[in-house]
Amino acid sequence: MSATFVEKVCVIGAGSTKYGKLDDSISDISIQASVDAIGSAGIEPKEIKAGYISNVFGIADKQVHLGPVVMSNLGISERPSLTIESACGSGSISFREAYANVAAGFYDVVLVTGVEKVTHTGTDWTTTYFSYCSDFFYEGQSGASFPGLFASMARAYLTEFKATEEDFAMVAVKNHENGLLNPKAHLRKKISVDDVMNSAVVASPLKLYDCCPFSDGASSVIICSEKFAKDHGKDYIEVIGSGRGGSPAALQGREHLTTIPSTKIAAEAAYKMAGITPKDVDFAEVHDCFTIAEVIDTEDLGFFEKGKGVEAVREGQTKLNGSISINPSGGLKSKGHPIGATGVGQIVEVFDQLTGKAGERTVNDAKIGLTHNFGATGASCAVHLFKSV
Ligand SMILES: CC(C)(COP(=O)(O)OP(=O)(O)OC[C@H]1O[C@@H](n2cnc3c(N)ncnc32)[C@H](O)[C@@H]1OP(=O)(O)O)[C@@H](O)C(=O)NCCC(=O)NCCS
Repeated sequence: MSATFVEKVCVIGAGSTKYGKLDDSISDISIQASVDAIGSAGIEPKEIKAGYISNVFGIADKQVHLGPVVMSNLGISERPSLTIESACGSGSISFREAYANVAAGFYDVVLVTGVEKVTHTGTDWTTTYFSYCSDFFYEGQSGASFPGLFASMARAYLTEFKATEEDFAMVAVKNHENGLLNPKAHLRKKISVDDVMNSAVVASPLKLYDCCPFSDGASSVIICSEKFAKDHGKDYIEVIGSGRGGSPAALQGREHLTTIPSTKIAAEAAYKMAGITPKDVDFAEVHDCFTIAEVIDTEDLGFFEKGKGVEAVREGQTKLNGSISINPSGGLKSKGHPIGATGVGQIVEVFDQLTGKAGERTVNDAKIGLTHNFGATGASCAVHLFKSV
């Protein structure tokens, strides 16, 4: 299936709050990130034609239907907005909808803001809320929370391939190293393989440091037609590929636990649209909600053969400025995972990397960046490809 597009689409601005435990309300942090992105794009709010706001648990901070709230607070209440929920993949799926509308020529400039505010509810409640994103009949209500579900995938990987728990630990060590270079990251702490191995068991074989934290945060990008970007004269990057895919919602419906079908489908579509192969990608922000997820992602995205993702980690290939830098931002593991914001935050990182704003964590000579973000255990997924201009 192919689509005919009217416009090339660009990202012209990006902004973010810090990720972590935040005191401000969900609508306040949405505005802070949006204003940051609007400033980065060098435009006025009134130039924005529509807003796409991704959020999952606004109910936890007493504010759902965030779209019109964000538009009103920006002084553009007359502009249409759409509030989108797709579990932990909400941000990239929201971006995809915005992208499609600009590509189709409906709007020339739109705002995409992702936000989550949950830490105030505490671990028990947040874990319960998040389990509503699984296939609750088969998983959540049986007590299978996300750490438990990803632990099943990790156990299957350890059984099927030559991998050890230390290999997974090395993913966490690398992402914490990158996160230390990111002033907006939630967990900025150098850790060792021993620290990971000796941390508390959450769901065997996953330990505390194999897990992403619960985070609050908001991220925002401004996307526009190529014509608008050129006329405007500011730094911008081009969207060259966009793919979506799905998987059976519950793990029990999948043929294998060591691959995520939606990632493969979305990646194939994005590479095809961009006319490139995985070898052309210089760095990727991937969905590492647990260390095992990053290993599986890098294989499903075609960077490494099945079962070889752990070797790449061991050899340092995925480190900052390794053969392919994976999660230069620190990823969900260290940068944090405010679920409605995460997919947009990945695009903020790609924008910063490709426009020379990533400071100490810059991937040298990068021209093409990939984002990969999924909902739940990969039931829904979006992959995007970006090119520097
Ligand atoms: C791993 C987890 C169970 C830890 O929760 P917790 O035991 O209640 O942890 P707390 O929030 O009480 O924090 C305790 C300490 O551990 C740290 N911490 C919390 N989560 C952490 C994580 N994931 N990695 C590293 N450190 C973490 C905190 O900073 C805190 O440190 P401090 O005492 O020095 O301040 C929780 O973060 C979790 O479930 N994460 C997964 C979230 C998830 O499923 N997301 C969806 C993915 S699909």
